[in-house]
Amino acid sequence: MIQKPRGTRDFLPDEMEARRSIEAKMREAVRRWGYREVCTPEFEDLELFTLRSGEGIMQEMYVFEDKGGREMALRPEITAAVIRMYINEARVAPKPLRWCYFADCFRYERPQKGRYRQFWQFGAELIGADTATADAEVIMLAADALNATGVTWDLKVGHLAFMKNLLNDLEPAAQRRVMAHLDKKDFEGLAVTLADMGKGDLGESLTALVACRTLPEAFEIAGTIPDKERVERTTAILDESGVTYSLNFGIARGLDYYTGMVFEGFAHNLGAENQIVGGGAYRLAHLFGGDDIASVGFAIGFDRVMVSLGDVQPKKDTVVGIVCTNEGRSFALSVARAFRADGIRTEMDLMERGLGAQMAHASKSADFAVVIGAREAGAGQVTLKDLHSGEQKTLDPAAAIAEVKVHGAR
Ligand code: HAM
Repeated sequence: MIQKPRGTRDFLPDEMEARRSIEAKMREAVRRWGYREVCTPEFEDLELFTLRSGEGIMQEMYVFEDKGGREMALRPEITAAVIRMYINEARVAPKPLRWCYFADCFRYERPQKGRYRQFWQFGAELIGADTATADAEVIMLAADALNATGVTWDLKVGHLAFMKNLLNDLEPAAQRRVMAHLDKKDFEGLAVTLADMGKGDLGESLTALVACRTLPEAFEIAGTIPDKERVERTTAILDESGVTYSLNFGIARGLDYYTGMVFEGFAHNLGAENQIVGGGAYRLAHLFGGDDIASVGFAIGFDRVMVSLGDVQPKKDTVVGIVCTNEGRSFALSVARAFRADGIRTEMDLMERGLGAQMAHASKSADFAVVIGAREAGAGQVTLKDLHSGEQKTLDPAAAIAEVKVHGAR
């Protein structure tokens, strides 16, 4: 028997309905902020992701050569693709652009609960606004989208300038090495790396920065940063808007393109893989041949949201099962058409078994049975049986449709 690839999942209809119901809540949340959906290809030129994604992601990429000898990659994330698309298609569009997406990504990671090789991100990118209000909008948007799903989680907001100020004397590659340790909260590795670089003295201030939770403390540790006023304004907007968050200047993010404000969210009830959202301000467009435009965005790990929510029971459709004899079949087909035309989910008998077997099947799969034998077909009527109460009536099709509609979803 052929199995699905490691780290991927199959989704049965119940699960897909649950996933779609949660996806719809996130879509509705971002719609209210004016974000409109975009879609990019599942694979791109490898270079799109190697230019500024960072070591971690590069090692996890699915890379292949196509038949034309081009090096391609399955997208490990969507941000780079969205910015490429902005440059290709929408460079001259009025700014800011508010875009969102719901799409699958591929990373060759060690699979475990909440960590998959194919996973879905629900994200947004705000392109062309370089202000504190823009930073705050994207944080609030991510919070709204996540809160709409019902997960309970903590929001941590930081800014890279503090860490970068402390690492000012290091080469960019060395800065990245240090930040990779901080991203993974690997303080032992950090100490070793700093010692190797002859920068052991930085350890104390970095550790203090990671532990501090207020702006004044952070300024005291890292010195005054050029974005001081912007950070203060962003946090003031969050405070005035009633957003619950904590400051965390240890957030380094795993991707290399961030330039300023960064944030992450952690679900309360997940284990090791509890980061359900990540985002921040970044610049990528100039690397792909565009203008040096500022952007802010985030991506929610949709699969982690689903794991965190556990058993989701979406609103169910009312289901009508058509049960008929061979003599009634042709009339039954027209009745089924009428039910569907009125928006009712209607399943026709296809097995051509006896009425008893059809009824047994309907009682497992439907809310109502519409029974049509020779007598009903001759009279242009149906016998409508409520499979929950057992009550049944003979009615004309329009009245049966009205009766089913009154019951609504169960
Ligand atoms: P990221 O933090 O790499 O950021 O991924 C965003 C979210 O995707 C994570 O917080 C996590 O919930 C989920 N995720 C990542 N890897 C996996 C996996 N293997 N299995 C399941 N879920 C996973 C980005 O991708 C950025 N593009 C976010 C962004 C958008 N920044 C600016 N705009």
